[in-house]
Amino acid sequence: MIISGTQNAAPFALTALEARACAFALSNNEAPDALFCSPALWQAGAWQGLDLSYPRSDCRPLSIPDKLRGAVAIRRAEFLAGRLCAMLALEALSGKWEDIAVHTDRSPIWPAGFIGSISHTKSRAIALVASEAHYARLGVDLEAMMDEARAAPLARMIVEESEIALRPVDMPFAAFLTLIFSAKEAFYKAVYPQLRRFLGFHDVRLARLDHASLLLVPQAEKIPELAGSTFSLLWRFEDDHCLTVLAEPR
Ligand SMILES: CC(C)(COP(=O)(O)OP(=O)(O)OC[C@H]1O[C@@H](n2cnc3c(N)ncnc32)[C@H](O)[C@@H]1OP(=O)(O)O)[C@@H](O)C(=O)NCCC(=O)NCCS
Repeated sequence: MIISGTQNAAPFALTALEARACAFALSNNEAPDALFCSPALWQAGAWQGLDLSYPRSDCRPLSIPDKLRGAVAIRRAEFLAGRLCAMLALEALSGKWEDIAVHTDRSPIWPAGFIGSISHTKSRAIALVASEAHYARLGVDLEAMMDEARAAPLARMIVEESEIALRPVDMPFAAFLTLIFSAKEAFYKAVYPQLRRFLGFHDVRLARLDHASLLLVPQAEKIPELAGSTFSLLWRFEDDHCLTVLAEPR
């Protein structure tokens, strides 16, 4: 598995949190069981061109969980790239290079005192981690841009007419749908640690959208725990991807 395009800068110049992002690709179509990297290797950029699926004496393996042993190669790679970013961001805050375990519901188990969020597509991964003293909620989502043929049949599942009415005239419908899909997933990840239950895409509604931020409003009858709250998210399009972040400071 080859890692490239690494980034350490927090998106949207967010402060008091750590972010790590990378691009990744499978080598020889092999299904990776583990990734061999370390904070020192990442910082030195010494991983460039290396296949990190091969054991290295200076790196403890980051392994896939048992329940991913039967997963296809790209799913294993996504997990490993997301976890690598998350572990690196956590290490920058805590000084500890430690595994981030998985709840049975698939959400990550952050060490006490920290919160974070992970997202990946088939070629890119990102993780945000912060101290609970600085942030109350974190949610990140990266989506590969849908094309118009895919967007049309998915629209009713993701948005209502009142939300579609907020689409800027210069934003193609597929880009708009990718953005709102991504924003609702980032919202879901950010509020999941409090709610611990599934939410539908119509349980939260787009109320405002501008060139860099948007506002989501939970439907009180669907999410009574969040009645009266509104959630501001940051967004941007990057090449053929959309990035959304919900970062709620304390
Ligand atoms: C959890 C979910 C948001 C993940 O989205 P995805 O498109 O599969 O993938 P992403 O790469 O963006 O995010 C996946 C990562 O999110 C994290 N994650 C998974 N479930 C999570 C949860 N319940 N809460 C927070 N984070 C979660 C994991 O780290 C996961 O990666 P991993 O399995 O490799 O560790 C999505 O699969 C889901 O279940 N959605 C529920 C419905 C929904 O989004 N509703 C929105 C309406 S508010």
